Amino acid sequence: MRVRRCMHLLLEPSEQISFGIAAILRGRVEVGGEVTWVALAAHLERAVVVDAAERALLSEVSAYRWQELSQDVSRSSACVKLLESGLLLSEQVEHAEYLSRDQAVREVHWWSPAAIVHRHSRWQGVDSVGDMRSQGLVTANDLRRNLGPPPSAVQEYEGVYAPLPRQTDSAFDAMLARRTTCRNFDRDRALPLQLLAQLMQRGMMAQAGFEAAPDTVFLKKNVPSGGGLHPVEAYLLVQNVEGLAPGLYHYHPLEHALLALPSPPAGEMSRLACTALSGQDWFADAPAMIVLAPRFERCFWKYRNHSKAYRAVLFDVGHLSQLLYLCATEAGLGAFVTAAINEVDVDRALGLDGIQQGSVAIFGVGWRAGRQETTEFDPAHRVWA
Ligand SMILES: Cc1cc2nc3c(=O)[nH]c(=O)nc-3n(C[C@H](O)[C@H](O)[C@H](O)COP(=O)(O)O)c2cc1C
Repeated sequence: MRVRRCMHLLLEPSEQISFGIAAILRGRVEVGGEVTWVALAAHLERAVVVDAAERALLSEVSAYRWQELSQDVSRSSACVKLLESGLLLSEQVEHAEYLSRDQAVREVHWWSPAAIVHRHSRWQGVDSVGDMRSQGLVTANDLRRNLGPPPSAVQEYEGVYAPLPRQTDSAFDAMLARRTTCRNFDRDRALPLQLLAQLMQRGMMAQAGFEAAPDTVFLKKNVPSGGGLHPVEAYLLVQNVEGLAPGLYHYHPLEHALLALPSPPAGEMSRLACTALSGQDWFADAPAMIVLAPRFERCFWKYRNHSKAYRAVLFDVGHLSQLLYLCATEAGLGAFVTAAINEVDVDRALGLDGIQQGSVAIFGVGWRAGRQETTEFDPAHRVWA
């Protein structure tokens, strides 16, 4: 049988920490650890525990070259287990799914550590609010009590800091001061299509396209982008927008137009929103959300297997989020961004594979509610009197 190793693979010694009860009762904490090796591969959703024989076999097989294995080796339990778990690949029909998943990752030119971080940091069905509550890490006081004090808010060097002049009287400064993450949306007040369209025009639309060749187009947008590639796509999750049926949409940045995508029934959009936001109900009422989903393959087309490329893509998402925040603030709307999302569930709803393209953050926008039920960070009372 011919085999090849999967493309991106990280082997990690993982220590199972156990606390000895007897020692705790004596007032001491002793950590007894058992080390198991886990394999994290970029084409697999879950880690696989590997023993010494499996690690040895993995180290003997190339990720690039197909190798013929002797009958003895291919029948060994190590080989069978590695093939069944997808860490080793074969051309046999029963392993075809893993082969095609690995091939899909190869074609996108990920840098190995980034591919593994990306794949294994995606959430599915996580309830981040429930987790925060069960760990007692909800309020600032909870954090202080359970985690101790954080590193100082400001890095200060010894010496005399020379003050800089302050300017705070422009309309732009006033607008910046009003930007506060909104956690209280008016669930009954629809967002006018006009305001959503303005937000998309300012935040996501391409101002121009430059055609280096008919099949090689670069966009100009209101945000910077690593390599000028603008890989981040916008998908709308619409719950309550005047003149727009609830559902999922793709935004076309050159046409400034929406395409309706296959969507759950209108009555189930709020469940999808809440799952997407990992249970953060304070955001889930937002009448419109923008899923920011980079096409990694576009960035990595130029930055092949590049150690900075994933970082650049995440910067792009951050730039878009800040621009969208400011556009929403200027329009008198509340806005939020969150990275605490269930990417696997979101990508499935949008038909994305997560590796060529996948969700990274969700931005939401809408009218603020009349009352602040969930705390917002507005110490200067620019939003809430
Ligand atoms: C990358 C990123 C992720 C965030 N994720 C969450 C989140 O999961 N839940 C939440 O309530 N706020 C989230 N926020 C909002 C921050 O909590 C908020 O920006 C911060 O508390 C400062 O408040 P301000 O935006 O009102 O100035 C996120 C912000 C950023 C930039």
